[in-house]
Amino acid sequence: LMIFSGQSNVPLAQEIADNLGVPLGKSSTERFANDCLFVRYEQSLREGDVFIIQSLTPPVQDHLVELLMMIDAAKSSSAARVTAVIPYYAYARSDKKDAPRISITARLVADLIQTAGADRVLTMTLHSAQVHGFFKIPVDHLSAELVIANYFATRVDQLENAVIVAPDAGDLKRASALARRLALPLAFIDKQRLSDTEVTSRGLVGDVKEKTALIIDDEVSTAGTLVQAVDVLKQNGAEAVYAAFTHGVYVGPAIERIERSPIVEVAATNTCLYKGQPSPKLQTLSVGP
Ligand code: R5P
Repeated sequence: LMIFSGQSNVPLAQEIADNLGVPLGKSSTERFANDCLFVRYEQSLREGDVFIIQSLTPPVQDHLVELLMMIDAAKSSSAARVTAVIPYYAYARSDKKDAPRISITARLVADLIQTAGADRVLTMTLHSAQVHGFFKIPVDHLSAELVIANYFATRVDQLENAVIVAPDAGDLKRASALARRLALPLAFIDKQRLSDTEVTSRGLVGDVKEKTALIIDDEVSTAGTLVQAVDVLKQNGAEAVYAAFTHGVYVGPAIERIERSPIVEVAATNTCLYKGQPSPKLQTLSVGP
């Protein structure tokens, strides 16, 4: 078993390697003056069962190309099997042709990973589980539900007075599974996306009055969905609001929005490496084990 890391999330790769008691393999990535990347393994991969860990976080295009090059180089170095471990799969939201003349990019990324030579993919909490079906090779779709359930259970004093909230219809299945696991009621918010960075959230289905609301979502990106959901919950009488995400992408105005929001705390797992300023409102949960 050999584990290598792309540049997107070396601490998570190191944590996974440590958990398995396997040293993190040696590889290097350089950028030429003309912006092209150069990837090289610094050890033999011959007959190895090779795992390449790379989250497709910003800069997404760089990290994707680096992953493709690492897969390709591993295959041509006679690795016996190559598994692409993609904790955060970018482009998962581009999963259908919902407008004319657009690319279904989640499928295109799957095609590229397979063409590069991956034998298997491991990923976590795909925005839309159907992306799984874009691959012809085996895909293990992992869930952070247990990590998030444990976080809520230890964070909230009176869990029996809590309610799980899906901030949009797309998250209902995930939220419902978590609600069942924690034996809590469920609520959901009617969200409409206005643009890449703006959403509007209106109606609420369910009762949150005088309760602790626990929002669950696959990812927090600009935090537009999150802060709108918090406002709706507060307007409907929620006492305190917490949120937990598998993927803390935190781009653009995210941190500023969270700081200004009355939300108590926002937790995300370490599928994405957080490089921003520390904030007392942010928690990181580990999916390394
Ligand atoms: C979208 O449907 C997803 O489940 C998330 O709600 C969305 O990606 C969050 O994006 P943002 O933080 O930019 O609102």
